[in-house]
Amino acid sequence: MARWKPDLREAEATPEALYLRRREFLRLGAAGAVGTAIGAVPLPALAGPDDPAGEVLPVSRKVDMAGGEKATTWKSVTTYNNFYEFGTDKSDPAERAGSLRPRPWTLAVDGEVKRPLALHVEDILKLAPLEERIYRHRCVEAWSMVVPWVGFPLAELVKRVEPTSRARYVVFQTLLDPAQMPGQRSRVLDWPYTEALRMDEAMNPLTLLTVGLYGRVLPNQNGAPLRVVIPWKYGFKGAKSIARMRFVETQPRTSWAILAPSEYGFYGNVNPAVDHPRWSQAKERRLGEFFRRDTLPFNGYGAEVAGLYAGLDPRKLY
Ligand code: MTE
Repeated sequence: MARWKPDLREAEATPEALYLRRREFLRLGAAGAVGTAIGAVPLPALAGPDDPAGEVLPVSRKVDMAGGEKATTWKSVTTYNNFYEFGTDKSDPAERAGSLRPRPWTLAVDGEVKRPLALHVEDILKLAPLEERIYRHRCVEAWSMVVPWVGFPLAELVKRVEPTSRARYVVFQTLLDPAQMPGQRSRVLDWPYTEALRMDEAMNPLTLLTVGLYGRVLPNQNGAPLRVVIPWKYGFKGAKSIARMRFVETQPRTSWAILAPSEYGFYGNVNPAVDHPRWSQAKERRLGEFFRRDTLPFNGYGAEVAGLYAGLDPRKLY
């Protein structure tokens, strides 16, 4: 992240409509269309470039874990991204990730497990009911969003492979294929993008194996077809387009920590009290907002996860 700078710009995107309100509007529109039958307004006319697009996922329940805050617009969530496999500018992934082919896709799960698996995405979608989880999403660069992700707890997948007693960490690796991911031709990072969690972090019910957002399949730029979301950590811990999960005994080296060990630790927990060596982490800018706001310890999820780190030096948790 040698290139990274804190994000101090003013509103990047104006929320043009509230996600939930628009949904309500569409729902009422549909009901109205049934009611009037002839002369009903065709729904597609209501859809604009800011509306969620892509295949709809069957969501069994919705959980708001962002304190009722409105979600960042679909447009911002899908056009302001970090995905270095497609370039280092925020707009690159949305413009260039069309070369990624998220189907067919196989996830290999191996290492210290009794039942190694190779799973097609379609089968992963059937492992557990899909939930919408609205989470705060905080990037180490000091911008943030509120995102309605779709997925299920990673623990559901982990249980299926039966980790051995030696499994202490789980490693996530993004696909390695420069033909689909042209950014891998330049050595900005050590490819494939590699991140990892301690087993108890991976098993925490907040850790989401994520397949969609806004009720739709993940757009390529957000990590199709499969990524992990760990809401109490900086965004870089959440590897995108995962091709392999490996259970290991010793703490692995991860992409950003290899690039800049003095700047990125293993834990990556959101901590406003520990500055990045080049900028403060005390505040953040929510996309769509003008004023910066205070960053919350553990991104506001301390009640759920602080206990995982009892006894560890808080400065090491970054
Ligand atoms: N995963 C891969 N494979 N490559 C990346 O460059 N960037 C990370 C993370 N996962 C990244 C990645 C960073 S720094 C952030 S902040 C989040 O993805 C951004 O996720 P979003 O674009 O869906 O908001």
